[in-house]
Amino acid sequence: RIVVLDYGSQYTMLLARRIREFGILCTVEHPSSVVLDKDVKGIVLSGGPQSVYESGSLDIPKEVLTAGLPILGICYGMHLMVKNFGGTVSRGKKAEYGLTPVSLEDSKLLTDVPRTITAWMSHGDEVTTLPPCYRTIARSGNGVVAGMTDGRNYALQFHPEVHHTQCGTKILENFVLKVCDVSRNWKISDFAYEQVEKIREIVGNKKVIAGLSGGVDSTVAAVLTARAIGANLTGIFVNHGLMRKDEECEVPEVMKTLGINLRVVDASDTFFRKLHGVTDPERKRKIIGETFIEVFEGEASDIDADFLLQGTIYSDVIESAASSRTSDKIKSHHNVGGLPENMKLKLLEPLRELFKDEVRALGKTLGISSKFIDRQPFPGPGLGVRILGEVDAEKARILKEVDDIFLKTLEEYGEKGKIWQAFAVLLPVKSVGVKGDRRAYGYVVALRAVHSAEGMTASWYEIPHAVLREISSRITSRVPEVGRVTYDITDKPPATIEWE
Ligand code: XMP
Repeated sequence: RIVVLDYGSQYTMLLARRIREFGILCTVEHPSSVVLDKDVKGIVLSGGPQSVYESGSLDIPKEVLTAGLPILGICYGMHLMVKNFGGTVSRGKKAEYGLTPVSLEDSKLLTDVPRTITAWMSHGDEVTTLPPCYRTIARSGNGVVAGMTDGRNYALQFHPEVHHTQCGTKILENFVLKVCDVSRNWKISDFAYEQVEKIREIVGNKKVIAGLSGGVDSTVAAVLTARAIGANLTGIFVNHGLMRKDEECEVPEVMKTLGINLRVVDASDTFFRKLHGVTDPERKRKIIGETFIEVFEGEASDIDADFLLQGTIYSDVIESAASSRTSDKIKSHHNVGGLPENMKLKLLEPLRELFKDEVRALGKTLGISSKFIDRQPFPGPGLGVRILGEVDAEKARILKEVDDIFLKTLEEYGEKGKIWQAFAVLLPVKSVGVKGDRRAYGYVVALRAVHSAEGMTASWYEIPHAVLREISSRITSRVPEVGRVTYDITDKPPATIEWE
């Protein structure tokens, strides 16, 4: 196993992921809590936003310094090595950001890498004196030390994990395979095996509950946990009446076939009652979140569980780093909309080291169908944020039909798989039309389809006009309440993906 110590770089996750892609187990740990066992064969110190001489800056743990394992320090990690091993780091005359030419010298780390590469730099501090016994193995076009080694430890000023760095993957591969001498023997199925053991150890014969809405992460976490503890896991599926068409039947079916002990609660009437007369988007979200918790807690109260299972993945950990790292008490959670402080359940988060595509791969090895695993993202409040203005059961029925026609037609024309997320929105306006020589007055719907990288930004997707024409004609002919179909051509930013 390789351990990546996380000093706060935005690229830490990429480091771990690249190493796992080589077929080698890699865990990301915080410098203050790292534990080195006999399986650890090498340590990578990530970059980070601090400066090594700043007061309170994170340092290399003693355990790592004395372990005698090969270390690869990257950027801030390199500066830490220099400081600890007797060299000096100073604020550079000129910061290096972006692609920079770097010349390289022979070393194990740089085997089969050209002697000049362009590499991704992002630093203000630089190495001014090497520690004793270290030699330079890379230098930037500006003359700055960009790499050093003492024959066992290595350090780089640039970021090999960023794909812009030429041969960066090769350099990382050299570190784990040639310097640490780790063999490629890790597969995602090993992760499943290890986690099942770990869950059994943590949970013992106590009970675990999970709120399951059919999202990929929580479903994979639940299947994994069910493999470990069987019927001691109870999933609670709350139907808020705002799922996509037929999902309230499909999701429990899938859960049951996957061996999850499931309670299904149809709370749609409660949700619609509480949403009656509410038009403000934030109020709607809040009501849906709170009602979910009420229903969930009501069901959970007689289960006598000690643990709450969450499908937290690495990107969630990064986004809420401060609160999620060590807490064993529930604070707030986006998956279930914010559970109360006084809930004494302990968190079980078996996927917190994985990335989305790794979770998908894990799900497939656990026997979950690709059709389920590759589903598009769906917001917690569901159609509640896609029915603009007041939400009611009738509008939900109309929107489910429209959305279903949209998605099925995209699928039929081979477009769905190319789109990150596609859905329909029901607008709170009606418009005049003509149907069979009679005046019609029907709802306006908007269609939205976007490309996105993890939802942070998005660009609208160009559905071929002929397909749009077919979608529009199917919607207006099959859903009589709809009189007009529009297509949203706004990127994020300035718009968000959802309309509310
Ligand atoms: P926005 O609308 O913020 O959405 O551009 C970005 C991505 O997040 C999804 N989304 C949510 N997911 N709970 C969720 O689990 C929510 O409350 C929520 N709101 C938006 C949205 O569908 C898109 O994929």
